[in-house]
Amino acid sequence: MPKELGRFEVIRAANILNFAYFPRLTLLTMLGHLVPLLAPGGFLIVCRTDAARGANGATAFQRSADGYSVAVVARLGGGSEVEPLMAELAATPVEDCALVTGGPVP
Ligand SMILES: C[S@@+](CC[C@H](N)C(=O)[O-])C[C@H]1O[C@@H](n2cnc3c(N)ncnc32)[C@H](O)[C@@H]1O
Repeated sequence: MPKELGRFEVIRAANILNFAYFPRLTLLTMLGHLVPLLAPGGFLIVCRTDAARGANGATAFQRSADGYSVAVVARLGGGSEVEPLMAELAATPVEDCALVTGGPVP
């Protein structure tokens, strides 16, 4: 993503970042590109509506104030299925996340 997009306090991805639409590596790549776009202290909220169950699953991730890590800070309805993927990125400095997944540094 181009640098001029800047940094965001909140990014919400609803009913899009899930295994029904994308395979694991694509989701990992998408997360790897979104995380560096968060401002320090910013939130990435990933949610999915399960219409059959009439339920929502969501996880709020927060980028640390120093910008170097991302943590789960809230969970609704069992959380998001992409949490394990975010955990895979967790060992990587945020600014390098896009490199880990093969994309350019935003
Ligand atoms: C359920 S809608 C969610 C729209 C919006 N995020 C919301 O919550 O209102 C899912 C969207 O993902 C798009 N989509 C699904 N698979 C996709 C793919 N492989 N590539 C690009 N878009 C896809 C669909 O076309 C649809 O617009």
